[in-house]
Amino acid sequence: MTKAFKALYISQEEGKFKKEIKALNISDLPENDVLIRVSYSSLNYKDALSASGNKGVTRKFPHVPGIDAAGIVVKSSTKDFKEGDLVLVTGFDLGMNTWGGFGEYISVPSSWIVALPDGLSLLEAMRFGTAGLTAGLSVEKVITGGITPDQGEIIVSGATGGVGSMATAILSKLGFDVAAISGKNENDFLTSALGASQILKRDEFIEKYNSKPLSSSDFAAGIDNVGGPTLSGILKSVKQNGIVTCCGNVSSADLNTSVFPFILRGITLTGIDSAQASMALRKKVWQLLAKDWKPVHLDMMVQEIGLDELADKLEELLKGQAKGRYVLKHD
Ligand SMILES: NC(=O)c1ccc[n+]([C@@H]2O[C@H](COP(=O)([O-])OP(=O)(O)OC[C@H]3O[C@@H](n4cnc5c(N)ncnc54)[C@H](OP(=O)(O)O)[C@@H]3O)[C@@H](O)[C@H]2O)c1
Repeated sequence: MTKAFKALYISQEEGKFKKEIKALNISDLPENDVLIRVSYSSLNYKDALSASGNKGVTRKFPHVPGIDAAGIVVKSSTKDFKEGDLVLVTGFDLGMNTWGGFGEYISVPSSWIVALPDGLSLLEAMRFGTAGLTAGLSVEKVITGGITPDQGEIIVSGATGGVGSMATAILSKLGFDVAAISGKNENDFLTSALGASQILKRDEFIEKYNSKPLSSSDFAAGIDNVGGPTLSGILKSVKQNGIVTCCGNVSSADLNTSVFPFILRGITLTGIDSAQASMALRKKVWQLLAKDWKPVHLDMMVQEIGLDELADKLEELLKGQAKGRYVLKHD
């Protein structure tokens, strides 16, 4: 099949990485079960790393990033999906070494695809995107770990970022009080749009909760998206038998802790890997996001952008300056 399409194309020239909007052809895509015309893709920190040439994310260049996509099946060689089906893809190898959602078409194995659940539009699916799924998986761990709203506040880090903003909004929709840690002065966004009940300045949080082996147990559970001293502080500030999830390393990949939160408070630290989450768990969380877990102000949390704005927004993400989420809309 030959058909031209547009994509954000990252190439490497003399050790430097160049971003450009380029016309590609469907025959440039890998042979896979299902060809999807992408309507929307969301912007994630991993995309910013891939687009800047980070070899830990993308080994081979030239490359088209975009670790998630929602769109319409245009060709399928499996009985699981047919032309016209509305679908979404997140994680696995999409946008890493398989060309991703920053192109108008993707070609992927059917085992990566989730049928769009009832109650969710293609745009809403990517308003959530990988960050929303990751937040949903984190909230699911907290809830299946037995934490209920009456047990106290949930502490969420990187609260204005993609995963943090989604986690804050989902938890407040479910009736939890959320203490949001942020390095920015975005109190209105955190309280009005996301529903946080308390805002903690990142530096003050680290100073208060990370200076001793254990600190006051103030929170029922924690959702950490940044790692480093923030995660250490969260582990020390969660109550007996609390759950702490960990999914990211924006601050640092290091975790300096002791055994005390685990042996004196029975804290569980649990990792989140949305890229390789089982299909059963993905479907469960997407169904919840489509209905009961859908934040009240989901539309306010996400700005739509076009291909021409993508490179600048990826730079913003890389510098930790993004607020909420961006969704790329293809023409
Ligand atoms: N494991 C998984 O499945 C999975 C899935 C998605 C993302 N992730 C990872 O999760 C992390 C967050 O992703 P995201 O998409 O939410 O990224 P993002 O939109 O860039 O948000 C990250 C947020 O972290 C905070 N931050 C920035 N620099 C910081 C620093 N030096 N120290 C502490 N906090 C800092 C900022 O929020 P404030 O200014 O409000 O503090 C920023 O908005 C990334 O590491 C990403 O790779 C993992």
